[in-house]
Amino acid sequence: MRKAIFALTTTLLAAMPALAQDMTNPDEILTARHGYMLLLAMQLAPLGAMAKGTAPYDAAAATEAAKNLAALSGIDSSMLWVPGTEAGVLTDSSALPAIIANTADRADRFAQLKGAADALVTVAGNDVEAMKAGLGGVGAACGGCHKEYRKPD
Ligand code: HEC
Repeated sequence: MRKAIFALTTTLLAAMPALAQDMTNPDEILTARHGYMLLLAMQLAPLGAMAKGTAPYDAAAATEAAKNLAALSGIDSSMLWVPGTEAGVLTDSSALPAIIANTADRADRFAQLKGAADALVTVAGNDVEAMKAGLGGVGAACGGCHKEYRKPD
C-alpha cells in the first residue's frame, strides 16, 4: 500500500511541470478567454437551433445545455480579463480595453447572464415556447456585453 502511494505521488510530481504551465502568459490567457466564450456558444447553438426549428425540440438536451450555460456563467472568470490581453495589445483580441477596466460592470453582466441561464434551466424542459422565452434573456445578456465591449468585426 505504502509503495503504491509512493509510486502515485512520484507520478503526480513528475507531471507537475506540465500542470504548472505559466498561465500568466497573455497569449495563453487570450486562448483561454476565447475557449471560454466558445464553450458558451456551444451551449447556445443547440438551443438556438431548437428555437429556430432547424433541430427538433428535445427537452432533456435543452435542459442539459441550459445547465451547462448556468455552470459556465457562474464561474469567476476574472482570471481571463487581465490587463495586457485586450485588443490594441494583442492583435487576435476583440476585447475593448473598457471590459478589463470596468470590473464591476463586467461582474454585473456575468451575473445577469447567470440569472438568465438559471431561469432558462427552470423552463427549458417544459416546451419549445417556454424555452424560447427563456432563451431571450440569455441572448440579451450575451449581446448586451458584446455591444458594449466587443470590437465590431
Ligand atoms: C461580460 C461580457 C460578455 C458576456 C456576458 C458574453 N461575452 Fe462573448 N465575448 C465578450 C468579449 C469582450 C469578447 C471578445 C474577446 C476577445 O477577443 O478578447 C467575446 C467573444 C465571444 C466570441 C468569439 C470568441 C472567439 O474565439 O473569438 C463568442 C463566440 C462569444 N463571445 C459568445 C458568447 C455567448 C454565446 C455568450 C452568452 C451565452 C457570451 N459570449 C457572453 C464578452 C462577453
